[in-house]
Amino acid sequence: MQTITTAAELRHALEHARKSGKRVGFVPTMGYLHDGHMALVEASRARGDITVVSIFVNPTQFGPNEDLDSYPRDFLRDEQLCRDAGVVILFASEVCEMYPSGFETFVDPGELAKPLCGAFRPGHFRGVATVVSKLFNMVQPDVAFFGQKDFQQCAIVRRMAIDLNLPIEIVTVPTVRETDGLAMSNRNRYLADEERRRALAISRGLFAAADKFHSGERGVENLIAVARDQIITVDRLQYLALVDNLTLQPLEGSVRRTSALCVAAYIGSTRLIDNVILPLPTES
Ligand code: PAF
Repeated sequence: MQTITTAAELRHALEHARKSGKRVGFVPTMGYLHDGHMALVEASRARGDITVVSIFVNPTQFGPNEDLDSYPRDFLRDEQLCRDAGVVILFASEVCEMYPSGFETFVDPGELAKPLCGAFRPGHFRGVATVVSKLFNMVQPDVAFFGQKDFQQCAIVRRMAIDLNLPIEIVTVPTVRETDGLAMSNRNRYLADEERRRALAISRGLFAAADKFHSGERGVENLIAVARDQIITVDRLQYLALVDNLTLQPLEGSVRRTSALCVAAYIGSTRLIDNVILPLPTES
């Protein structure tokens, strides 16, 4: 595995790797890798792609009062995990390389960035769309892998690839969970033991609503109420919404298209997000 820190070196290494005729699979991350990230690497490797992982804690997607400085980092451990997992190139850019002095061009993701997390984290998805499009330009992957846990991010990146004519297949990989259901996230490490136990209300609520949906319930309010019954115990609920899978607009009345039940909530001072997809099998 090669660890690379500059875009110029990356271009050179990829030119070489592409000569094998294989496709390039790309897994963008902010590091502190867990099994959720490794499932993305696995998905890329399973397709026989040359796998490139990036690690970059992107300052432009953090708000002024968010956890940029305390965001967990352990580069040497990440590097070893990537090496063991068969990653071919690990790209770890510096902030001054990604955003050199004078940088002022951003990607505005539009309407998809407004509801859900976008309503509570102004500028977050502008930062995500900007860094992902820069990384896409640097890596020029054939396919890129994102985790379902970041449901809104997946929808925005997918739209961005279409709108900006990026010839990149976007693959969403199912959320990886701890055995008790908690969605894997770097922010789980902020939870004290007692908070960690209480955080389970989030996945329990989502699973209860998904069970109801799979038993035939289609009423939007009823499904949300089932989830809310459990999730009510969080310290602060930012949103619990049943939205159209593609437009991210809230559903009213009954579920007639594949949708997603999404939640963002605080346990203590830790903000957690999670979701379940409610698929309608009659849709193609
Ligand atoms: O999901 C993440 O870790 C980040 O938002 C991403 C896609 C790496 C962009 O910084």
